[in-house]
Amino acid sequence: MSKKIASARISEKSSKLLQELNNSLPFDKLLYREDIEGSRAHAFMLSEEGIISKEDYEKIENGLVEIYEEVESGKFLLDGDDEDIHMAIEGRLTDKIGDAGKRLHTARSRNDQVALDFRLYVQKNTQKIANLLLENISTLIKVAQNNTTTLLPGMTHLQHAQPINFAYHMMAYASMFKRDYERFVSSYERNNYSPIGCAALAGTPHPINRKITAQKLGFKAPTLNCLDTVSDRDFALEILFNISTMMMHMSRLSEELILWSASEFKFVTLSDKHATGSSIMPQKKNPDIPELLRGKTGRVNGNLVALLTVMKGLPLAYNKDMQEDKEGVFDSVKTALLSLEVLNEMIDEMTVNVEKMNKACMIGHLSATDLADYLVKEVGIPFRDAYHITGNVVNMAEEKGVDISELTIEDLHSIDERIGSDVVALLDNRASMNARTSEGGTSTIRTEEQIEIMISWLNSQSKD
Ligand code: ARG
Repeated sequence: MSKKIASARISEKSSKLLQELNNSLPFDKLLYREDIEGSRAHAFMLSEEGIISKEDYEKIENGLVEIYEEVESGKFLLDGDDEDIHMAIEGRLTDKIGDAGKRLHTARSRNDQVALDFRLYVQKNTQKIANLLLENISTLIKVAQNNTTTLLPGMTHLQHAQPINFAYHMMAYASMFKRDYERFVSSYERNNYSPIGCAALAGTPHPINRKITAQKLGFKAPTLNCLDTVSDRDFALEILFNISTMMMHMSRLSEELILWSASEFKFVTLSDKHATGSSIMPQKKNPDIPELLRGKTGRVNGNLVALLTVMKGLPLAYNKDMQEDKEGVFDSVKTALLSLEVLNEMIDEMTVNVEKMNKACMIGHLSATDLADYLVKEVGIPFRDAYHITGNVVNMAEEKGVDISELTIEDLHSIDERIGSDVVALLDNRASMNARTSEGGTSTIRTEEQIEIMISWLNSQSKD
Protein backbone atom coordinates (compact mmCIF):
# COMPACT_ATOMS: atom_id res chain seq x y z
CA MET A 1 0.00 0.00 0.00
CA SER A 2 1.23 3.51 -0.80
CA LYS A 3 2.15 5.84 2.05
CA LYS A 4 -1.00 7.49 3.20
CA ILE A 5 -1.60 11.22 2.84
CA ALA A 6 -2.45 11.52 6.51
CA SER A 7 0.13 9.30 8.20
CA ALA A 8 2.90 11.64 9.29
CA ARG A 9 3.76 9.52 12.33
CA ILE A 10 3.27 6.13 10.78
CA SER A 11 6.32 4.94 8.91
CA GLU A 12 5.39 1.34 8.22
CA LYS A 13 2.77 0.28 5.73
CA SER A 14 -0.39 -0.82 7.45
CA SER A 15 -1.14 -4.52 7.37
CA LYS A 16 -3.85 -5.91 5.17
CA LEU A 17 -5.76 -6.95 8.26
CA LEU A 18 -5.59 -3.47 9.75
CA GLN A 19 -6.86 -2.04 6.51
CA GLU A 20 -9.75 -4.46 6.45
CA LEU A 21 -10.81 -3.45 9.92
CA ASN A 22 -9.96 0.21 9.63
CA ASN A 23 -11.01 1.28 6.16
CA SER A 24 -14.50 2.63 5.82
CA LEU A 25 -14.27 3.40 2.09
CA PRO A 26 -16.09 0.19 1.12
CA PHE A 27 -19.24 1.61 2.73
CA ASP A 28 -18.73 5.35 3.22
CA LYS A 29 -18.16 5.82 -0.50
CA LEU A 30 -21.91 6.25 -0.50
CA LEU A 31 -21.19 9.73 0.89
CA TYR A 32 -19.19 10.95 -2.12
CA ARG A 33 -21.82 13.54 -3.09
CA GLU A 34 -21.94 15.02 0.39
CA ASP A 35 -18.16 14.88 0.72
CA ILE A 36 -17.64 16.81 -2.51
CA GLU A 37 -20.45 19.24 -1.70
CA GLY A 38 -18.91 19.90 1.72
CA SER A 39 -15.41 20.36 0.33
CA ARG A 40 -16.62 22.80 -2.31
CA ALA A 41 -18.35 24.91 0.34
CA HIS A 42 -15.30 24.76 2.60
CA ALA A 43 -12.93 25.81 -0.20
CA PHE A 44 -15.27 28.65 -1.16
CA MET A 45 -15.23 29.94 2.41
CA LEU A 46 -11.42 29.62 2.65
CA SER A 47 -11.04 31.75 -0.43
CA GLU A 48 -13.67 34.29 0.62
CA GLU A 49 -11.79 34.79 3.86
CA GLY A 50 -8.42 35.05 2.08
CA ILE A 51 -7.11 31.85 3.69
CA ILE A 52 -6.37 30.34 0.28
CA SER A 53 -5.79 32.23 -2.99
CA LYS A 54 -8.49 32.66 -5.62
CA GLU A 55 -6.33 30.66 -8.06
CA ASP A 56 -6.09 27.73 -5.67
CA TYR A 57 -9.81 27.93 -5.06
CA GLU A 58 -10.56 27.82 -8.79
CA LYS A 59 -8.39 24.74 -9.15
CA ILE A 60 -10.00 23.03 -6.16
CA GLU A 61 -13.51 23.87 -7.32
CA ASN A 62 -12.92 22.63 -10.87
CA GLY A 63 -11.08 19.55 -9.63
CA LEU A 64 -13.91 18.61 -7.27
CA VAL A 65 -16.54 19.06 -9.99
CA GLU A 66 -14.50 16.81 -12.27
CA ILE A 67 -14.12 14.18 -9.55
CA TYR A 68 -17.86 14.26 -9.03
CA GLU A 69 -18.41 13.58 -12.72
CA GLU A 70 -15.80 10.83 -12.67
CA VAL A 71 -17.60 9.07 -9.83
CA GLU A 72 -21.00 9.51 -11.43
CA SER A 73 -19.80 8.14 -14.76
CA GLY A 74 -18.02 5.20 -13.15
CA LYS A 75 -14.55 6.43 -14.19
CA PHE A 76 -13.45 6.81 -10.57
CA LEU A 77 -14.60 3.68 -8.82
CA LEU A 78 -13.75 4.47 -5.20
CA ASP A 79 -12.45 0.96 -4.75
CA GLY A 80 -8.84 1.76 -3.86
CA ASP A 81 -7.18 1.18 -0.52
CA ASP A 82 -7.81 4.71 0.77
CA GLU A 83 -8.91 4.73 4.36
CA ASP A 84 -12.19 6.49 3.74
CA ILE A 85 -14.17 8.64 1.32
CA HIS A 86 -12.52 11.82 2.61
CA MET A 87 -9.02 10.51 1.91
CA ALA A 88 -10.07 9.09 -1.44
CA ILE A 89 -11.46 12.39 -2.72
CA GLU A 90 -8.65 14.50 -1.30
CA GLY A 91 -6.04 12.12 -2.72
CA ARG A 92 -7.64 12.23 -6.14
CA LEU A 93 -7.79 16.01 -6.01
CA THR A 94 -4.11 16.29 -5.17
CA ASP A 95 -3.23 13.86 -7.94
CA LYS A 96 -5.13 16.12 -10.32
CA ILE A 97 -4.19 19.63 -9.23
CA GLY A 98 -1.07 19.21 -7.10
CA ASP A 99 -0.30 21.62 -4.26
CA ALA A 100 -3.61 23.47 -4.42
CA GLY A 101 -5.33 20.19 -3.47
CA LYS A 102 -3.17 19.95 -0.37
CA ARG A 103 -4.55 23.30 0.84
CA LEU A 104 -8.16 22.06 0.96
CA HIS A 105 -7.78 20.49 4.38
CA THR A 106 -6.77 23.83 5.98
CA ALA A 107 -8.91 24.59 9.07
CA ARG A 108 -10.68 21.27 8.78
CA SER A 109 -10.35 17.78 10.21
CA ARG A 110 -11.92 14.53 9.15
CA ASN A 111 -13.81 14.76 12.42
CA ASP A 112 -15.88 17.74 11.34
CA GLN A 113 -15.81 16.53 7.75
CA VAL A 114 -17.43 13.19 8.54
CA ALA A 115 -19.88 14.90 10.89
CA LEU A 116 -20.84 17.20 8.01
CA ASP A 117 -21.08 14.55 5.29
CA PHE A 118 -23.11 12.21 7.41
CA ARG A 119 -25.42 14.95 8.60
CA LEU A 120 -26.03 16.12 5.04
CA TYR A 121 -26.90 12.54 4.09
CA VAL A 122 -29.29 12.18 7.02
CA GLN A 123 -30.96 15.52 6.29
CA LYS A 124 -31.51 14.68 2.61
CA ASN A 125 -32.96 11.30 3.40
CA THR A 126 -35.11 12.67 6.18
CA GLN A 127 -36.78 14.81 3.52
CA LYS A 128 -37.17 11.88 1.14
CA ILE A 129 -38.77 9.71 3.80
CA ALA A 130 -41.04 12.56 4.92
CA ASN A 131 -42.25 13.05 1.34
CA LEU A 132 -42.99 9.35 0.95
CA LEU A 133 -44.95 9.45 4.18
CA LEU A 134 -47.12 12.19 2.70
CA GLU A 135 -47.76 9.98 -0.33
CA ASN A 136 -48.78 7.09 1.89
CA ILE A 137 -51.12 9.32 3.88
CA SER A 138 -52.71 10.50 0.68
CA THR A 139 -53.22 6.91 -0.52
CA LEU A 140 -54.77 5.92 2.81
CA ILE A 141 -57.12 8.90 2.48
CA LYS A 142 -58.12 7.73 -1.00
CA VAL A 143 -59.02 4.27 0.32
CA ALA A 144 -60.81 5.91 3.25
CA GLN A 145 -62.87 8.16 0.98
CA ASN A 146 -64.24 5.09 -0.80
CA ASN A 147 -65.12 3.29 2.41
CA THR A 148 -66.76 5.64 4.87
CA THR A 149 -69.85 3.41 4.97
CA THR A 150 -68.05 0.05 4.77
CA LEU A 151 -68.84 -1.72 8.04
CA LEU A 152 -66.04 -3.57 9.77
CA PRO A 153 -65.85 -5.28 13.14
CA GLY A 154 -63.67 -3.08 15.33
CA MET A 155 -61.62 -5.27 17.65
CA THR A 156 -59.89 -5.24 20.98
CA HIS A 157 -57.79 -8.26 22.02
CA LEU A 158 -58.37 -9.38 18.40
CA GLN A 159 -61.98 -10.12 19.41
CA HIS A 160 -64.96 -8.50 17.78
CA ALA A 161 -65.84 -5.43 19.83
CA GLN A 162 -67.90 -2.71 18.14
CA PRO A 163 -68.85 -1.91 14.56
CA ILE A 164 -66.69 0.72 12.89
CA ASN A 165 -66.17 1.62 9.26
CA PHE A 166 -63.16 0.76 7.14
CA ALA A 167 -62.33 4.40 6.40
CA TYR A 168 -62.02 5.00 10.13
CA HIS A 169 -59.54 2.13 10.38
CA MET A 170 -57.48 3.53 7.48
CA MET A 171 -57.54 6.98 9.05
CA ALA A 172 -56.06 5.52 12.22
CA TYR A 173 -52.99 4.56 10.17
CA ALA A 174 -53.00 7.93 8.40
CA SER A 175 -52.85 9.51 11.87
CA MET A 176 -49.85 7.36 12.82
CA PHE A 177 -48.03 8.30 9.62
CA LYS A 178 -48.82 11.96 10.24
CA ARG A 179 -47.09 11.75 13.60
CA ASP A 180 -44.17 9.98 11.94
CA TYR A 181 -43.97 12.71 9.34
CA GLU A 182 -43.95 15.37 12.05
CA ARG A 183 -41.20 13.51 13.88
CA PHE A 184 -38.99 13.49 10.78
CA VAL A 185 -39.67 17.18 10.18
CA SER A 186 -38.84 18.14 13.74
CA SER A 187 -35.60 16.12 13.63
CA TYR A 188 -34.71 17.90 10.42
CA GLU A 189 -35.21 21.29 12.06
CA ARG A 190 -33.37 20.36 15.25
CA ASN A 191 -30.32 19.08 13.39
CA ASN A 192 -30.15 21.68 10.67
CA TYR A 193 -26.87 23.21 11.91
CA SER A 194 -23.52 23.02 10.21
CA PRO A 195 -20.65 21.04 11.79
CA ILE A 196 -17.96 22.16 9.35
CA GLY A 197 -15.24 24.42 10.73
CA CYS A 198 -15.16 22.65 14.08
CA ALA A 199 -11.91 21.02 13.00
CA ALA A 200 -10.63 18.21 15.24
CA LEU A 201 -12.53 19.21 18.40
CA ALA A 202 -11.62 22.72 19.51
CA GLY A 203 -12.09 24.98 16.51
CA THR A 204 -9.18 26.52 14.60
CA PRO A 205 -6.88 29.55 14.76
CA HIS A 206 -7.53 30.24 11.06
CA PRO A 207 -9.88 33.19 10.51
CA ILE A 208 -12.71 31.05 9.09
CA ASN A 209 -16.33 32.08 8.71
CA ARG A 210 -18.62 29.18 9.57
CA LYS A 211 -21.69 31.18 8.62
CA ILE A 212 -20.62 31.13 4.97
CA THR A 213 -20.34 27.35 4.82
CA ALA A 214 -23.52 26.89 6.82
CA GLN A 215 -25.45 29.06 4.43
CA LYS A 216 -23.93 27.54 1.31
CA LEU A 217 -24.86 24.04 2.47
CA GLY A 218 -28.44 24.95 3.37
CA PHE A 219 -28.08 24.86 7.14
CA LYS A 220 -29.77 27.38 9.41
CA ALA A 221 -26.51 28.30 11.19
CA PRO A 222 -23.25 26.78 12.45
CA THR A 223 -23.48 24.53 15.53
CA LEU A 224 -22.77 26.16 18.88
CA ASN A 225 -19.99 24.08 20.45
CA CYS A 226 -17.34 22.27 18.46
CA LEU A 227 -16.52 19.69 21.11
CA ASP A 228 -20.15 18.61 21.10
CA THR A 229 -20.42 18.76 17.33
CA VAL A 230 -17.65 16.30 16.51
CA SER A 231 -18.88 13.94 19.27
CA ASP A 232 -22.55 14.16 18.34
CA ARG A 233 -24.43 11.46 16.49
CA ASP A 234 -27.90 12.36 17.77
CA PHE A 235 -29.00 13.21 14.24
CA ALA A 236 -28.18 9.64 13.19
CA LEU A 237 -29.93 8.19 16.22
CA GLU A 238 -32.97 10.33 15.50
CA ILE A 239 -33.37 9.10 11.96
CA LEU A 240 -32.93 5.52 13.21
CA PHE A 241 -35.55 6.00 15.91
CA ASN A 242 -37.91 7.79 13.54
CA ILE A 243 -37.56 4.96 11.03
CA SER A 244 -38.09 2.32 13.72
CA THR A 245 -41.27 3.95 14.94
CA MET A 246 -42.57 4.41 11.41
CA MET A 247 -41.73 0.80 10.56
CA MET A 248 -43.46 -0.35 13.75
CA HIS A 249 -46.62 1.36 12.46
CA MET A 250 -46.11 -0.17 9.04
CA SER A 251 -45.59 -3.54 10.65
CA ARG A 252 -48.92 -3.30 12.51
CA LEU A 253 -50.68 -2.43 9.27
CA SER A 254 -48.87 -5.30 7.56
CA GLU A 255 -49.97 -7.66 10.30
CA GLU A 256 -53.58 -6.63 9.73
CA LEU A 257 -53.23 -7.04 5.97
CA ILE A 258 -51.85 -10.53 6.54
CA LEU A 259 -54.75 -11.43 8.83
CA TRP A 260 -57.31 -9.84 6.55
CA SER A 261 -55.95 -11.82 3.58
CA ALA A 262 -56.43 -15.14 5.42
CA SER A 263 -59.38 -17.36 4.43
CA GLU A 264 -60.91 -16.80 7.86
CA PHE A 265 -61.24 -13.08 7.13
CA LYS A 266 -60.89 -12.32 3.41
CA PHE A 267 -61.54 -8.66 4.20
CA VAL A 268 -59.01 -7.59 1.60
CA THR A 269 -57.42 -9.16 -1.45
CA LEU A 270 -53.89 -8.04 -2.21
CA SER A 271 -53.18 -7.56 -5.89
CA ASP A 272 -51.29 -10.40 -7.55
CA LYS A 273 -48.38 -7.97 -7.82
CA HIS A 274 -48.03 -8.05 -4.06
CA ALA A 275 -48.48 -11.73 -3.36
CA THR A 276 -46.45 -14.77 -4.24
CA GLY A 277 -47.19 -18.45 -4.80
CA SER A 278 -45.95 -21.53 -3.01
CA SER A 279 -43.39 -23.78 -4.70
CA ILE A 280 -45.34 -26.90 -3.72
CA MET A 281 -48.95 -25.88 -3.07
CA PRO A 282 -50.38 -24.67 -6.35
CA GLN A 283 -53.49 -23.14 -4.78
CA LYS A 284 -51.61 -20.74 -2.49
CA LYS A 285 -51.32 -17.00 -2.65
CA ASN A 286 -49.06 -15.77 0.13
CA PRO A 287 -48.86 -12.23 1.55
CA ASP A 288 -45.04 -12.18 1.38
CA ILE A 289 -44.84 -8.42 0.91
CA PRO A 290 -46.54 -7.38 4.17
CA GLU A 291 -44.66 -10.22 5.88
CA LEU A 292 -41.38 -8.75 4.68
CA LEU A 293 -42.37 -5.27 5.81
CA ARG A 294 -43.18 -6.73 9.21
CA GLY A 295 -39.87 -8.60 9.24
CA LYS A 296 -37.80 -5.60 8.19
CA THR A 297 -39.02 -3.79 11.28
CA GLY A 298 -36.82 -6.13 13.33
CA ARG A 299 -33.85 -5.21 11.21
CA VAL A 300 -34.22 -1.43 11.61
CA ASN A 301 -34.76 -1.82 15.34
CA GLY A 302 -31.43 -3.69 15.44
CA ASN A 303 -29.71 -0.76 13.73
CA LEU A 304 -31.10 1.66 16.32
CA VAL A 305 -29.99 -0.43 19.27
CA ALA A 306 -26.57 -1.01 17.70
CA LEU A 307 -25.80 2.71 17.42
CA LEU A 308 -27.18 3.53 20.86
CA THR A 309 -24.83 0.87 22.18
CA VAL A 310 -21.82 2.16 20.22
CA MET A 311 -22.34 5.69 21.56
CA LYS A 312 -23.15 4.99 25.18
CA GLY A 313 -19.67 4.84 26.69
CA LEU A 314 -17.66 7.16 24.45
CA PRO A 315 -15.62 9.97 25.98
CA LEU A 316 -15.63 13.28 24.09
CA ALA A 317 -14.70 13.90 21.34
CA TYR A 318 -14.27 11.71 18.24
CA ASN A 319 -13.45 8.04 18.72
CA LYS A 320 -13.03 5.52 15.94
CA ASP A 321 -15.92 3.52 17.35
CA MET A 322 -18.04 6.18 15.68
CA GLN A 323 -17.16 4.84 12.26
CA GLU A 324 -19.69 2.14 13.14
CA ASP A 325 -22.44 4.76 12.84
CA LYS A 326 -22.89 4.59 9.09
CA GLU A 327 -23.80 1.13 7.84
CA GLY A 328 -26.84 0.78 10.09
CA VAL A 329 -28.16 4.18 9.05
CA PHE A 330 -27.58 3.44 5.35
CA ASP A 331 -29.40 0.14 5.80
CA SER A 332 -32.34 1.62 7.71
CA VAL A 333 -32.72 4.47 5.22
CA LYS A 334 -32.67 2.09 2.25
CA THR A 335 -35.15 -0.17 3.99
CA ALA A 336 -37.46 2.71 4.90
CA LEU A 337 -37.49 4.21 1.41
CA LEU A 338 -38.21 0.91 -0.30
CA SER A 339 -40.78 -0.18 2.29
CA LEU A 340 -42.71 3.08 2.01
CA GLU A 341 -42.84 2.83 -1.76
CA VAL A 342 -44.00 -0.77 -1.64
CA LEU A 343 -46.62 -0.10 1.03
CA ASN A 344 -48.03 2.80 -0.94
CA GLU A 345 -48.42 0.68 -4.06
CA MET A 346 -49.87 -2.25 -2.13
CA ILE A 347 -52.51 -0.17 -0.34
CA ASP A 348 -53.40 1.60 -3.56
CA GLU A 349 -53.98 -1.66 -5.39
CA MET A 350 -55.63 -3.88 -2.79
CA THR A 351 -59.29 -4.81 -3.13
CA VAL A 352 -61.55 -4.10 -0.18
CA ASN A 353 -64.11 -6.88 0.20
CA VAL A 354 -66.99 -4.85 1.53
CA GLU A 355 -69.41 -7.79 1.79
CA LYS A 356 -67.00 -9.92 3.82
CA MET A 357 -66.42 -7.10 6.28
CA ASN A 358 -70.13 -6.44 6.52
CA LYS A 359 -70.92 -10.07 7.16
CA ALA A 360 -68.28 -10.37 9.85
CA CYS A 361 -70.12 -7.66 11.76
CA MET A 362 -72.92 -10.18 12.37
CA ILE A 363 -70.60 -12.22 14.57
CA GLY A 364 -69.99 -11.25 18.17
CA HIS A 365 -72.99 -9.08 19.12
CA LEU A 366 -71.12 -5.92 18.20
CA SER A 367 -73.97 -3.60 19.15
CA ALA A 368 -74.35 -4.94 22.71
CA THR A 369 -72.85 -1.76 24.15
CA ASP A 370 -75.58 0.22 22.38
CA LEU A 371 -78.24 -1.62 24.35
CA ALA A 372 -76.47 -0.87 27.63
CA ASP A 373 -76.02 2.80 26.58
CA TYR A 374 -79.75 2.96 25.69
CA LEU A 375 -80.79 1.60 29.09
CA VAL A 376 -78.64 4.24 30.77
CA LYS A 377 -79.60 7.18 28.56
CA GLU A 378 -83.28 6.52 27.92
CA VAL A 379 -84.44 4.45 30.89
CA GLY A 380 -82.15 5.85 33.58
CA ILE A 381 -80.83 2.46 34.69
CA PRO A 382 -77.38 2.65 36.38
CA PHE A 383 -74.66 1.52 33.93
CA ARG A 384 -73.62 -1.57 35.93
CA ASP A 385 -77.23 -2.87 36.00
CA ALA A 386 -77.65 -2.06 32.32
CA TYR A 387 -74.45 -4.00 31.66
CA HIS A 388 -75.92 -7.12 33.38
CA ILE A 389 -79.29 -6.86 31.62
CA THR A 390 -77.41 -6.62 28.31
CA GLY A 391 -75.38 -9.68 29.31
CA ASN A 392 -78.63 -11.63 29.68
CA VAL A 393 -79.77 -10.44 26.25
CA VAL A 394 -76.49 -11.59 24.71
CA ASN A 395 -76.89 -15.00 26.39
CA MET A 396 -80.35 -15.30 24.88
CA ALA A 397 -79.04 -14.42 21.40
CA GLU A 398 -76.31 -17.06 21.86
CA GLU A 399 -78.90 -19.67 22.82
CA LYS A 400 -80.97 -18.82 19.78
CA GLY A 401 -77.92 -18.84 17.57
CA VAL A 402 -78.50 -15.30 16.29
CA ASP A 403 -76.76 -11.94 16.53
CA ILE A 404 -78.08 -9.47 19.10
CA SER A 405 -79.26 -7.25 16.22
CA GLU A 406 -81.56 -10.08 15.05
CA LEU A 407 -83.57 -10.39 18.29
CA THR A 408 -87.20 -9.22 18.21
CA ILE A 409 -88.76 -6.78 20.62
CA GLU A 410 -90.60 -9.72 22.20
CA ASP A 411 -87.30 -11.45 22.87
CA LEU A 412 -85.94 -8.28 24.47
CA HIS A 413 -89.07 -7.75 26.58
CA SER A 414 -88.82 -11.25 27.96
CA ILE A 415 -85.53 -10.16 29.56
CA ASP A 416 -86.59 -6.70 30.75
CA GLU A 417 -89.91 -4.96 30.17
CA ARG A 418 -88.35 -1.52 30.32
CA ILE A 419 -86.65 -2.07 26.98
CA GLY A 420 -88.59 0.07 24.46
CA SER A 421 -89.40 -0.97 20.89
CA ASP A 422 -87.10 1.81 19.54
CA VAL A 423 -84.15 -0.31 20.67
CA VAL A 424 -84.40 -2.76 17.77
CA ALA A 425 -83.33 -0.06 15.29
CA LEU A 426 -80.44 0.96 17.55
CA LEU A 427 -79.03 -2.55 17.58
CA ASP A 428 -78.50 -2.54 13.84
CA ASN A 429 -74.71 -2.48 13.23
CA ARG A 430 -74.80 0.47 10.89
CA ALA A 431 -76.92 2.43 13.36
CA SER A 432 -74.46 1.47 16.07
CA MET A 433 -71.50 2.71 14.02
CA ASN A 434 -73.29 5.93 13.15
CA ALA A 435 -74.30 6.51 16.77
CA ARG A 436 -70.67 7.16 17.68
CA THR A 437 -70.78 10.83 16.87
CA SER A 438 -68.43 12.07 19.57
CA GLU A 439 -65.35 13.92 18.34
CA GLY A 440 -62.87 11.44 16.85
CA GLY A 441 -65.57 8.76 16.80
CA THR A 442 -66.34 6.27 14.05
CA SER A 443 -69.70 7.53 12.70
CA THR A 444 -69.55 8.18 8.98
CA ILE A 445 -70.02 11.89 9.62
CA ARG A 446 -67.15 12.05 12.09
CA THR A 447 -64.95 9.91 9.83
CA GLU A 448 -65.62 12.28 6.92
CA GLU A 449 -64.70 15.15 9.18
CA GLN A 450 -61.39 13.43 10.02
CA ILE A 451 -60.72 12.90 6.33
CA GLU A 452 -61.38 16.59 5.62
CA ILE A 453 -59.08 17.71 8.41
CA MET A 454 -56.35 15.37 7.21
CA ILE A 455 -56.70 16.58 3.63
CA SER A 456 -56.36 20.22 4.61
CA TRP A 457 -53.35 19.37 6.77
CA LEU A 458 -51.83 17.48 3.84
CA ASN A 459 -52.40 20.45 1.55
CA SER A 460 -50.65 22.72 4.03
CA GLN A 461 -47.44 20.65 3.92
CA SER A 462 -44.88 21.76 1.38
CA LYS A 463 -42.99 18.99 -0.34
CA ASP A 464 -39.30 19.74 -0.59
N1 ARG B 1 -13.82 7.17 8.48
C1 ARG B 1 -13.99 7.94 9.67
C2 ARG B 1 -15.42 7.74 10.21
O1 ARG B 1 -16.23 7.30 9.47
C3 ARG B 1 -13.77 9.36 9.39
C4 ARG B 1 -13.30 10.16 10.54
C5 ARG B 1 -11.92 9.76 10.89
N2 ARG B 1 -11.33 10.63 11.85
C6 ARG B 1 -10.25 10.28 12.49
N3 ARG B 1 -9.79 11.12 13.30
N4 ARG B 1 -9.73 9.11 12.35
O2 ARG B 1 -15.70 7.98 11.34
